[in-house]
Amino acid sequence: MSQIGFYGLGSMGTGMALNLQKHLQDTKQPNLRYSNRTLSKGDCLKAARGIEEPDYISLVKSCDIIFTMISNDKVLNELVESALSTGSISGKIFVDTSTVHPNTVARASEKLTKAGASFVASPVFGASAVAAAGKLIFAMAGPKDTTEKLKPLVLNVMGRSIIDLGEEVSKSSMLKIAGNVMVIGLMELISEVQVFAEKVGLGTATMEGMIADMFGPVAESYSKRLTTGAYAPPHGTAPGFAVSLAIKDAKHAISIANDHDMRLNVSEAALSHMLNARAYAGESLDSSSMYGTVRHESGLPFWTENSRQSS
Ligand SMILES: NC(=O)c1ccc[n+]([C@@H]2O[C@H](COP(=O)([O-])OP(=O)(O)OC[C@H]3O[C@@H](n4cnc5c(N)ncnc54)[C@H](OP(=O)(O)O)[C@@H]3O)[C@@H](O)[C@H]2O)c1
Repeated sequence: MSQIGFYGLGSMGTGMALNLQKHLQDTKQPNLRYSNRTLSKGDCLKAARGIEEPDYISLVKSCDIIFTMISNDKVLNELVESALSTGSISGKIFVDTSTVHPNTVARASEKLTKAGASFVASPVFGASAVAAAGKLIFAMAGPKDTTEKLKPLVLNVMGRSIIDLGEEVSKSSMLKIAGNVMVIGLMELISEVQVFAEKVGLGTATMEGMIADMFGPVAESYSKRLTTGAYAPPHGTAPGFAVSLAIKDAKHAISIANDHDMRLNVSEAALSHMLNARAYAGESLDSSSMYGTVRHESGLPFWTENSRQSS
């Protein structure tokens, strides 16, 4: 039986790894080995009988299939170099589920494949609550025999469905970035409409009811990030989807569009609002914090009564 490993226990990775460990236990497979830069974040996995590895290199050495869920391209590049530094990764399977640029996954695939390993790029759609519920959508690309082997570890374990994008790894990353053009654009639009509703006296609750009825639970959940104050969570509480990660995604989308002679005007507006929010209120903000900037630009305070009250 293969030994499975998981690296990256942030907002998304923790729920995914817990679901994976539960599946391995239920199906009497070896317990999940895990690691994270901040090891204490794995305490919940240890309590679920996961096995801690001190760092990524130890994890790679002890596992056959290694999932990663980390913040950005730079970290993935570092992990690839760490894996290569172990000397022998032939036959191992690396599955990155983060959101990174298509060129980054293409390079990772080339390097790992040259060393005799397989690489699958499988970014996911769904917020951290969806990850915890095991209902993510996986956009998967990589060698066919490898993606087939991974399906039982994903379907009804960490995810509700897999979008198969074939063997070219950059395709799944491209779909994820295209999907995030929608996500970030929708957040920008809902931010604007909620400020409009407040300014003209309709009120955000009335607007949220209409958004839910007309546009469904996803749009409603984005509106709730604003109205519950989750766009600027209390100090010490991690945001659901950190603003810096959404800034990375918007920048990737805008630069890819520019490479193809087009502009993403909505993404550009959202990016500018997110950058201003981060400059005004610091790192610890959700991707939806463009709402604070839209409020500010419209003569309202950046904060609401439900958000935190200071930078
Ligand atoms: N949150 C969402 O709603 C969502 C949805 C879909 C996709 N995504 C994508 O999924 C990925 C993870 O998102 P997340 O929300 O889980 O992010 P997160 O909570 O910020 O977690 C990031 C993870 O990367 C690790 N990390 C950061 N810098 C590192 C470094 N220099 N070396 C080693 N590890 C490092 C962190 O370790 P520490 O714990 O030590 O900080 C943590 O495990 C991102 O690419 C994001 O764009 C997020």
